[in-house]
Amino acid sequence: MRRAIYPGSFDPITNGHLDVISRAAKLFDEVVVAVAFNEAKSGLFSINERIEMIRGATGQIENIRVSRFDGLLVSFAQEQNACAVIRGLRAISDFEFEFQMALMNRKLNASIETIFLMPREEYTYLSSRIVKEIARLGGDVGAFVPQAIVEGLREKFRG
Ligand code: PNS
Repeated sequence: MRRAIYPGSFDPITNGHLDVISRAAKLFDEVVVAVAFNEAKSGLFSINERIEMIRGATGQIENIRVSRFDGLLVSFAQEQNACAVIRGLRAISDFEFEFQMALMNRKLNASIETIFLMPREEYTYLSSRIVKEIARLGGDVGAFVPQAIVEGLREKFRG
């Protein structure tokens, strides 16, 4: 059983994340989408809301599991018997932080490989932060996130 962890904040999940998830699901027997819980960094959506949104958006892919994690990513990966961590790489601007994180994670646990997957080009400019900003300002985010998340964003910014 080859298992990978796809960690992130997913506040909220976007079509770019979903593109990476479906690529990873083809490469591994199981992919655990791991939603980071960070007490110091409260997001727009609660951890449970994010998990439910990801479950809703990935329900049609059989070998996906969604879980929360706190603490070190490599510890969670080891607990889950995963051999790899998946990260999406959109542009050069992502590279420096991702490179630092991948090498630090390797230093912490050399048996877990980080694998970078490139989403479709049309998602290279997409991020949860930008989606939230557009939604907050009343713009249409229907091309960037699943419909349930369009509605979730509308609820958050209503009033
Ligand atoms: O979606 P994000 O915000 O880019 O995800 C970043 C995340 C959650 C993957 C990263 O911050 C992380 O792995 N946090 C867990 C704590 C940890 O292991 N830190 C050391 C990483 S070098």
